[in-house]
Amino acid sequence: MSHRFKSVPVRSSEITPKEVYLSRRDFIKAAGVLAGSAALAACAPGETAEESTPQFTGPAKLDELGDPANTYEEITSYNNYYEFSANKEAVKPLAENFNAAPWTVEVTGMVANPKTYGIEDLLARFTQEERIYRLRCVEAWSMVIPWMGFTLASLLKEVEPTSDAKYVRFETVYRPEEMKGQGSPFYPWPYQEGLRMDEAMNDLTLLATGLYGEMMPNQNGAPIRLVVPWKYGFKSIKSIVKIELTDQKPNTLWNTVAPNEYGFYANVNPTVDHPRWSQASERRIGELTRRATLMFNGYGEQVADLYADMDLSLFY
Ligand code: MTE
Repeated sequence: MSHRFKSVPVRSSEITPKEVYLSRRDFIKAAGVLAGSAALAACAPGETAEESTPQFTGPAKLDELGDPANTYEEITSYNNYYEFSANKEAVKPLAENFNAAPWTVEVTGMVANPKTYGIEDLLARFTQEERIYRLRCVEAWSMVIPWMGFTLASLLKEVEPTSDAKYVRFETVYRPEEMKGQGSPFYPWPYQEGLRMDEAMNDLTLLATGLYGEMMPNQNGAPIRLVVPWKYGFKSIKSIVKIELTDQKPNTLWNTVAPNEYGFYANVNPTVDHPRWSQASERRIGELTRRATLMFNGYGEQVADLYADMDLSLFY
């Protein structure tokens, strides 16, 4: 089955959204706010968390398969973020006081032009756009999320990778005082992930700085996280402080902890089961019946060529 990436027109007769999308904020304006204050703190003084939860009305956002985006509430209340907790419902309150500003991202390694970006510079310098992507977690649940961000390729081009660079390594912030999960000796902190160079340069691969037109919530990986929609969710590393171009295949946290369960490639693949469960179907958050999982999460037209010569049951 092949799918176009372009979004399909909204057929409003088909949707009866509970909580839907109205408008998106201008991210350049948001960058100005961020630069001038600690705007990423969960609440401004005097506000309650309840009052600061954005409300959206209007036609539903659809992905390019015509599926409606999950609600803001769903996307921001059920999170995988082991630095805070292994319990998906516990992450949001535990991440409430995380300081996502000020923030810098170092881009280094095999590049002609290494650079450390302030987050406000990233928000302002690269063109922000909305991409409505499916996220398929390795635990067989999924969501549709309207991300805001820019392509990783646009940033990598700016630092000019050398011809030796074959992989990109990403690193999450290490702050055990703020992130109590990092006290756990069972995981090799900080969280790390990696992509092959051609995967990193693919137009689908985003550095996301927001969702539903709002700044990235702490629990979703504020202020900047990776989004690789054809791979299992664990590749989409949160709260990135370092991006390194290298000729070595990076170690990743999950591959280090359980190499037989979590491979380097981690392409969504309904025909290759996780050792402890099937990957053939998934539970879309908010739906009652399971749906069939699509090869490459439905993005095969854009990415299948990257793996043309590989046995994906070996390179899982
Ligand atoms: N990044 C870090 N630093 N720590 C994590 O525990 N979990 C991953 C990924 N990125 C994780 C992470 C997993 S398994 C998933 S499914 C997604 O984040 C979940 O992203 P979401 O909370 O925005 O849905």
